[in-house]
Amino acid sequence: TRRFLKTGAALAVALVLAACGKKEEAAPAAAASAPAETPPARVYVVGTDAAYAPFESQNEKGEIVGFDIDVVSAVAQKAGIQVKFVNTPWEGMFNTVAQGDRDLLVSAITITDERKQTMDFSAPYFDAQQLIAVKEDSKVAKFEDLKKLKVGVQTGTTGDEVVTKLIGKDSTAIKRFESTPLALKELESGGVDAVVADNGVVIHYVANNAGSKFKTVSDTTFTPEQYGIVVKKGNAELLEKINKGLADIKADGTYDKIYASWFGAAPAAAAASK
Ligand code: ARG
Repeated sequence: TRRFLKTGAALAVALVLAACGKKEEAAPAAAASAPAETPPARVYVVGTDAAYAPFESQNEKGEIVGFDIDVVSAVAQKAGIQVKFVNTPWEGMFNTVAQGDRDLLVSAITITDERKQTMDFSAPYFDAQQLIAVKEDSKVAKFEDLKKLKVGVQTGTTGDEVVTKLIGKDSTAIKRFESTPLALKELESGGVDAVVADNGVVIHYVANNAGSKFKTVSDTTFTPEQYGIVVKKGNAELLEKINKGLADIKADGTYDKIYASWFGAAPAAAAASK
């Protein structure tokens, strides 16, 4: 694009020079004509850790798909902006938006007070909660039971936070993985006794991997969580567009349609987030 622009500018100067034949008028004339060219439409880059089905994952074709993707695409359409999703590792993801490599993040990201210090969140768009996955024959009946066991989590997630609180920061009983599917694979092979992650992802995995012989265990001590779309701290202009788009898709039924297409009929939890 840069080379193209340069060539274009040079061409414009040459044309002006040829037209008026006076060197001193060339530069201002060329400068004045530059803004008339329509700039290429801005494409907002959306970072997502596409290993978190059904929120974001890669299909057989390598395309990034999921509930989050549909939500942000619909929001973008309402907001009249263009977006492009880029697979981005969870670890370091928050830095990419701080540094401007990504304009937005959608990744089933829980809105927390701590995160709010360094990034801005949209209005909540999804209700979630931690959920425990164990083998079918496990005796684990509640979160407390994990205290003396080996537990797998995705590094730096809210699942990591609650397990760290329960078991202790330096405990070798916590095994941290770069993705949630890797933690679940480890549960299958017996490397950990349990995995704690977002309910939607655990339920989806258990339902789609019957061979793993997992079951889920819920616990009332897990605090309710809500997902938000992230923008760089202080980017009020983009945040406003996103929030407006979100409100629009919630109001006109688009959100419910997307919800139903990924989770079936909208449960009470989804209604509550609106
Ligand atoms: N909701 C959890 C959190 O914000 C986990 C999100 C992980 N998302 C992902 N795409 N890997 O910490």
